[in-house]
Amino acid sequence: MTRVFVFTNHKGGVGKSTSATNSALGIAGMLRRAGAPNCRVLLIDTDSQAHATLVTTGTKDYGVDNSLYTVLMADRQNAAQTLLNCIVQSTWDADLHVLPASPMLEGAERELMGIAGAPYRLADPLSRIISRYAAVVIDTRPSFSLMTEMGLIAATDAIVPVEPRYLETVGLMSVIGKINDIREGWRQPNLRVSGILVTKMNTRIRGHNHLLDELKTHSVLGKLLLGVVPANEAVSYAHQNHQSVFSYDPKAPASKAYAQFVGKLVQRMAKGGA
Ligand SMILES: Nc1ncnc2c1ncn2[C@@H]1O[C@H](COP(=O)(O)OP(=O)(O)OP(=O)(O)O)[C@@H](O)[C@H]1O
Ligand SMILES: [Mg+2]
Repeated sequence: MTRVFVFTNHKGGVGKSTSATNSALGIAGMLRRAGAPNCRVLLIDTDSQAHATLVTTGTKDYGVDNSLYTVLMADRQNAAQTLLNCIVQSTWDADLHVLPASPMLEGAERELMGIAGAPYRLADPLSRIISRYAAVVIDTRPSFSLMTEMGLIAATDAIVPVEPRYLETVGLMSVIGKINDIREGWRQPNLRVSGILVTKMNTRIRGHNHLLDELKTHSVLGKLLLGVVPANEAVSYAHQNHQSVFSYDPKAPASKAYAQFVGKLVQRMAKGGA
């Protein structure tokens, strides 16, 4: 079963797109170095802001006939072929492919609201083409909207990026509860909360250390901690240059942290179910 990692949190600016794009590239690179026969990774951008699309393809000029919007509007029987037609190669790596977002996704939520089967319009066609890919990574918008639900329904593993200042356990438990509701409400038994990724960690800030310690010792959340990415200006510079943090500066602290995190994702892929 191809793993589908969805990065989600209704809070804005916590590092969803940064983590989704760099993890997608990292998985492809790690598989290649391990000599895997199929290293292709598909990045799906479900956010109408199209940040992940912009940094990985150099443009966000996608719309009615070449984006995720096109897939969502296609007839059921054509949707898988439409999806294949809309996938583009990233500028980052030949094995990193992108299903681009479009500003039109904003309107798609209204257009699809109340249409039977709408929440499955990504999961259905994706399931028909997924065997071409070693892994799929989905970036979501900062809300639990229909688009985010579509991403979660299509996924096997939800990863929740969170900044230390938002590390309140109450907030995190509610995000996890929402993901579990979607699994049960939409009968998606494959979806589970796979991990928490702390981003923009600054060990010089006492509050950050305090919150991270609390997270580590929490009975539920502690077991979910999958990685800690330091606050690192290499990330912003890479972003501005439409580069991955790995290619901008492979030795940067954030590159090392993302490489470690990607290692855990690849381990999960190798283990299959667990
Ligand atoms: N580890 C980090 N160190 C420094 N800056 C970071 C780090 N991670 C992300 N950023 C910066 O924080 C900003 C928000 O990151 P990003 O776009 O990944 O968040 P997001 O959760 O996808 O936001 P949105 O909710 O708007 O989609 C960006 O400017 C990015 O460069
Ligand atoms: Mg984003």
